[in-house]
Amino acid sequence: MSRQEALQILDEWVKSPNLKKHMLAVATSMEFYSKKFSADSDKWWVVGLLHDMDYEKYPNPNRDESGHPYKAAEFLKDKLDKESLDAIMGHAEFTHTPRETQMAKALFAVDELTGMITAVALIKPEKKLSAVDVNSVKKRFKEKRFASGVNREEIIQGAQELGVPLDEHIQNVIFAMGRISGELGL
Ligand SMILES: [Fe+2]
Repeated sequence: MSRQEALQILDEWVKSPNLKKHMLAVATSMEFYSKKFSADSDKWWVVGLLHDMDYEKYPNPNRDESGHPYKAAEFLKDKLDKESLDAIMGHAEFTHTPRETQMAKALFAVDELTGMITAVALIKPEKKLSAVDVNSVKKRFKEKRFASGVNREEIIQGAQELGVPLDEHIQNVIFAMGRISGELGL
């Protein structure tokens, strides 16, 4: 699937500007790691972009097959390959889909972290990614009330699975998001 097609799906399924920004942040982080691992950048970007495509329509509070990310995988089953579909399923722990590929590991590792980095940027006086560094993100890890929806354990576990030291991983995602700071409004 081309990036263009993926963006079209995004527009059809997602209305929330914040969710769109999250999906773009994950896409650009996936692109960063595709290059690091010499993988297909377009393919990784598309998986990053679409991983939460069904989240708005089917938020899935019961964590069962009637909702996210099962709905996305179902819609995409003839449009993406197995590696991509497994990665999308695998980013949600409750599906118990093993993360066997670097793509799946990268998606899981960047997903929550983009949220944490966005939250840290938004409390800076200038509300910019350029004001965010590794230490400012790590400092907030310990503050449970800060960005309480962000699962810190998953970020740490994700970096370990990916095989990238946590500090380096945070730095990578700050850098990747910084490349589309305009689109992210940060
Ligand atoms: Fe996500």
